Parts: sequence; structure tokens; C-alpha cells
Amino acid sequence: MKGLISIITFLIVGILTAFYIGFGFPDATESTAVDVEIVGLHEKFTLKFSHVVAENTPKGLAAAYFAELVSEKTGGWVEIQVYPNGVLYDAQEEFDALKNGEVQMIAPAFSEVTVRDPKWIVMDLPYLFDSEAKVEQAFEGSVGELLLKSIEREGFKGLAFWDNGFKQLTNNVRPIILPEDVHGLLFRVMPSEALFKTYQTVGAAAVTISFNDVYNALRDGVIDGQENTLSNIYSKGFYQQQQYMTITNHNYLGYVVLIDPEFWRTLPEVYQSSILEAMEEVTAWQRHHARELNKEMLERIAVGSNIEIYEQTEEERAVWRKALKPLYDVYEPIIGKELLDEFAKLQNDY
Ligand code: SIN
Repeated sequence: MKGLISIITFLIVGILTAFYIGFGFPDATESTAVDVEIVGLHEKFTLKFSHVVAENTPKGLAAAYFAELVSEKTGGWVEIQVYPNGVLYDAQEEFDALKNGEVQMIAPAFSEVTVRDPKWIVMDLPYLFDSEAKVEQAFEGSVGELLLKSIEREGFKGLAFWDNGFKQLTNNVRPIILPEDVHGLLFRVMPSEALFKTYQTVGAAAVTISFNDVYNALRDGVIDGQENTLSNIYSKGFYQQQQYMTITNHNYLGYVVLIDPEFWRTLPEVYQSSILEAMEEVTAWQRHHARELNKEMLERIAVGSNIEIYEQTEEERAVWRKALKPLYDVYEPIIGKELLDEFAKLQNDY
């Protein structure tokens, strides 16, 4: 008799549990091992992810894909709401919004990070990378680790590096081939001290303007030119307001994906794992995609506008490098030996 009661109790508990799981999740038919682990949490997590670029750019597409993957991997229990085009904040405001808990994720360009953590200036040294392969090696090796550790000390948790591509130079005054061609011109840059100094070193001037105000500043003649990746130049229409573009590849525009560390700690481990897994997949996907997209945008700009495009030669590149070399010494004390040694090792690997 006692045995029979135990069996009946067991069956009742089993049926109730099955109902509980079934009604508790958005898609009960896909109840997986992960779902079972989070039974009883019954809390949906929503993360606001703010960024400043267009949706059809490497970062825009990666953010949207990341949101989709996270939702898929968590059965809808973690929702990433993506806010593109700076609709919530401009690039610097995003850092404060993250700190204040108004958004949970951002993916600022390295140059924007320098304002919060000057060690990141290293990524703004001109002609630091001569290939995408080297950039990738930096992200994935000790350089990446040191940079993430450094930004963590400023109160941001870094999840990944995302790519955009090399920056190119556009302007409305003359073709830019050698450093003297920029004399007297005013360029828009992101708010990184090294970028201002770069232009000053070759006799030009630079000013910071929010990314989403650059188009108007070019149109109204407030600035003569700007530097950006092909996908940004295309998606924001900068090429429509410029007469000359030089393919210089003088700086790399990459991103670090940051999450609010306090929010991260509140996430159950099972969701943290799903987020990291999604991030890894998206990062690999977007690396390849960013390169393709920038190539495609160059073609579109070439075909769809009258902008005059000039490709810098190796010899010209050497002249620019020499002219800008003093910047490396200027920023050595700020960047620190540890990081610079890692870069030196990277150069030696090639
Ligand atoms: C970005 O790609 O996030 C913005 C770049 C810029 O401000 O030029």
C-alpha cells in the first residue's frame, strides 16, 4: 500500500512539473537541458544595446544578429533591444548611460574609448597595422587581453572586439597624396587626443563632431574633410558631400563590445553562457562580413558618385609613416611599456 502511494505521488509531481515547464516558457516544445536548468527563475532579462552607426554597417548588422542569436539561445528569456544610429545617445554619452544603467550594452569605437582609458590611444597610432590579419592577431592575443583588463579597471566589462575596417581620408579641397597636401585643412575626427595630434603633426587641424552631425558639417562647409571606413562613408552619405577620397588605411576602426558589469552579475550563469556563445559566433561572422561590406561599399561609392578616388602607394605610405613617427614617442609614456612590448612582438612575428 505504502509503495502504491509513493508511485501515485511520484506521478502527480511529475505531471505537475511537466505542466509548469510547459506553461512557463515561451516555446515549451523546445524545452532543452538549458530550459530545465532555468525552471523557477521566471524572470525575463531585457538589455538595451545602443550604438551610433547605421543598421547596414558591420556593427549594425552584428548587433542585430547578436540580438537574434541570444533570443534563440535563451528561448526568448533574454531580449536584446538594439538602438542604432545614435537614437538614444551619441558615442560619449553612451559610456555614461552604461554606467548609470540606462543601457546595458554598447560597442564604442576604440578612439571613443581613449577618452575613458588613455591606454587605448595605442590603437589610434597612425599606420600601426598594415593588414587585417595583424589586427586580428592583436585582438586575439595579449594586446586584446591587456586592453580588456585596462578598460575593466574603468568599470566596463569587455566581451569582444568587433571589426569595421581601415579608415580612409575624404575632403573637398584637393587630392591628398603626400602629407603637405593636408596643410591648412580642417578634418573631423573622433575625440581621441592622438587623432588631433596626427593632423597637427602634418600641418592640418582636427575637430570633434558627433558622428551623426558629420554629414551636415561637410555639407555646410564647417569642415573640409573627415576620416572613416568605407561602410561609414557610404551609409552616412559622406561621399556625397566630398570631392576627393584617398585610400590610406592609416588607422583601424574597430569596436569593443562593453556590458555593464553590475548587470552582468545579476544574470544567471546559464544566460551568461548563452550570451558569450552568441558573442563568439557573431564576432567570427562579422569579421568576415565587415571586410566584404567595406569592399562592396567602395564599389558603390565609385559607381554611384563623382568622388575622385586615389589609392595611396607603398612609397607614399612610407613618407606618411615617417612624418607621423614622432607620435609613437609622444604617447609611449601613456600607453605603457607592457602594451607597447606586445605590439613590438606582433611586428616581429611578421
Ligand atoms: C562608429 O563607427 O561607431 C562611429 C565612427 C565615427 O564616429 O566616425
